[in-house]
Amino acid sequence: MKKALIAAAMFVFAGPAYAQTAATPIDPAVLDAAVKAAWKELTPEMQKRVEQDETQKICSETRNNPSKAQFDAIVAREKATIQYPPDGKMLGDWEKGKKSAGDGFGWRMRDDMEKRQAGGNCYACHQMEPKEITYGTLGPSLVGYGKLRDFKEEAVKAAYEKIYNAHAVFPCSNMPRLGTNKFLSIDQIKDVTAFLMSPDSPVNK
Ligand code: HEC
Repeated sequence: MKKALIAAAMFVFAGPAYAQTAATPIDPAVLDAAVKAAWKELTPEMQKRVEQDETQKICSETRNNPSKAQFDAIVAREKATIQYPPDGKMLGDWEKGKKSAGDGFGWRMRDDMEKRQAGGNCYACHQMEPKEITYGTLGPSLVGYGKLRDFKEEAVKAAYEKIYNAHAVFPCSNMPRLGTNKFLSIDQIKDVTAFLMSPDSPVNK
């Protein structure tokens, strides 16, 4: 019994190279070549999307564990990309935000972006309205998000900023930078912010 356990442990520790551990990282050149081979004939716009920017490079190189200096540099760089509504009002229309939160249209290979705007697709990763039972769990539950923050003005601004650029708040987040990468417009971000932060929204009922 003991022998078998030790043998099993040895297998784990002396594990084969396909296990992506800190000791056996995948060579970035191999990874780049695989991405290039997988995504052929991309439009220049799509091509830009498969090349890592500075923030993504640091997150990959440090396995999402940036040093303090890198963390601060990412926050500063990403924060600088956030654009605010010209009138300073960050709460839009929660009903539109609700639609957007459940809408996965946008930037898939066959989505015609001339047709209409992308959705926010928040439900792919978050629980939001308690009544909705279809949601992903990659991100935390956002049920009662505004209510739990007493609908405070700073909290509305923080939610807007988080949605605009998740890395500006939490570097190396798994959440997409929806505003910075132009998935959502300022108005659309105001609408999903209202879905989270408005007292009338079903998220807070
Ligand atoms: C691909 C998955 C993914 C999508 C899509 C996504 N998020 Fe997130 N989100 C996350 C993850 C993971 C976190 C936790 C890490 C972090 O804070 O960045 C998070 C965190 C958050 C937070 C902060 C939660 C806290 O603890 O205070 C808010 C607010 C949020 N998301 C709102 C949204 C909204 C609104 C949308 C849609 C417009 C959205 N997210 C889309 C993955 C996602």
